[in-house]
Amino acid sequence: MANAHLNVVILAAGQGKRMHSAIPKVLHTIANVSLLERVVNTALTLNPKEIIVVCGHEREVVQSTLAHLPVQWVVQESQLGTGHAALQAMPHLHNDSKTLILFGDGPLIASDSLQAVINSTPKSGMALLVAEFADPRGLGRVVRDSNGLFLRIVEEKDASAEELHLNEIFTGILCAPTTQMTQWLQRLGNDNAQGEYYLTELPALALADGCAVTTVRLQHPQQAQGINDKKQLAQQERYFQSCQAEALLLQGLILRDPSRFDLRGTVQFGIDVVIDINVILEGKVQIGDRVQIGANTVIRNCIIGDDVIIKENCILEDSVIGNDCTVGPFARLRPGAVLKEKAGIGNFVEVKKSTIGVASKVNHLTYIGDATIGDDVNIGAGTITCNYDGVNKHQTIIGDRAFIGSDTQLVAPVTVGEGATIGAGSTITKDVPANQLTFCRKQQIVIENWERPQKEEEN
Ligand code: UD1
Ligand code: CA
Repeated sequence: MANAHLNVVILAAGQGKRMHSAIPKVLHTIANVSLLERVVNTALTLNPKEIIVVCGHEREVVQSTLAHLPVQWVVQESQLGTGHAALQAMPHLHNDSKTLILFGDGPLIASDSLQAVINSTPKSGMALLVAEFADPRGLGRVVRDSNGLFLRIVEEKDASAEELHLNEIFTGILCAPTTQMTQWLQRLGNDNAQGEYYLTELPALALADGCAVTTVRLQHPQQAQGINDKKQLAQQERYFQSCQAEALLLQGLILRDPSRFDLRGTVQFGIDVVIDINVILEGKVQIGDRVQIGANTVIRNCIIGDDVIIKENCILEDSVIGNDCTVGPFARLRPGAVLKEKAGIGNFVEVKKSTIGVASKVNHLTYIGDATIGDDVNIGAGTITCNYDGVNKHQTIIGDRAFIGSDTQLVAPVTVGEGATIGAGSTITKDVPANQLTFCRKQQIVIENWERPQKEEEN
């Protein structure tokens, strides 16, 4: 049920100059999801009545990239500061509610931290999320009186030498009753070092009106780290990955080195799964029991059965791997590869849109595309399904128990019968009968008494 008393406003109009990029800052990604989408997803967990995203710089790109998000877009024509950005959203909000302000460049803030701010918002006044940062450089500092009571926030560029030493920072997140917030935003001036309308002057205005200002201290400060440059982007990616890896370890996954594991999506896994170093899982990955995944492997949107061994250096995408299969090292499964139980795919083998039957083996240097291979088939080294005639793709069908000799080209469309044997080095252009030996090969010629040419003696 939507919380009728909550609006969320996400500020995302800035260019992000410090990113040195043509891509708008909020469209940069952490684990494949854009910064802004992450903030919106977290906001959605609060069930607000309305989520407004204030966009401006490159707003067409931002809106079209994130058109699937259930938000209302409001435009800030010129980027005159965070306070000015927030003001643009206010006419679109219901006055009988609270408004929570978030920054689109703070993607890892957790839902419970936001809930704490909302819960601490006074009936008349505001709540701020603050944090202790070992390195507060670039951030707004929280200034308190000698009794520790909150006074104001000062931006780094306006801070005195003394204030620069303060380690308590403002995360950018605040919440207040919508009507009051609108009034304070309207009263902001821009008489400061950057000539901008600062959101951070709101708390002082609230105090001046005799309203309460509560500060909520964040337990895990790294959640609140904003992303202003590529260094912070990389740091937050690592932080996010380390949190994910830690959670997976506690759920029973074996990661040989959690700092060399990346999950860019979701993974479901059974018991006693072991993942070696430098493995990347993307999209939706499902892994059965007792699966081993070798080093340097990328798995994207795959379903993997029980007792599967994936050796080192494989790339697997949109594929289904049955129980007891072995894959790799150096194998590539492209979209639509289906391996039935106990199938084996060896080194330098590429499989695309093909089914490999139960216990069938494709062990070396082979391309299988648009093929249906039965059970107990052996495909020799260097076999190629010639599936493409330059215009259309054609099917290759191989019956159960067939044996395809090494270096065979199967020119599709073509069918190989059950139990057929194809001699090595054949170029097969017509259907092959079941249970017979078929080959297609020039006779071997021997020239007797032939001698190799000799190098002439030099004078
Ligand atoms: C801001 C805060 C600072 C706080 C820090 C936390 C201000 C003035 N400063 O600084 O106190 O410690 O965040 O990370 O608020 N934006 C707009 N329109 C604008 C300007 C900015 O929508 O005109 C958006 C940006 O896209 C961004 C967010 O507001 O998502 C914050 O802006 P940014 O320039 O990154 O502020 P900081 O310098 O990080
Ligand atoms: Ca920022």
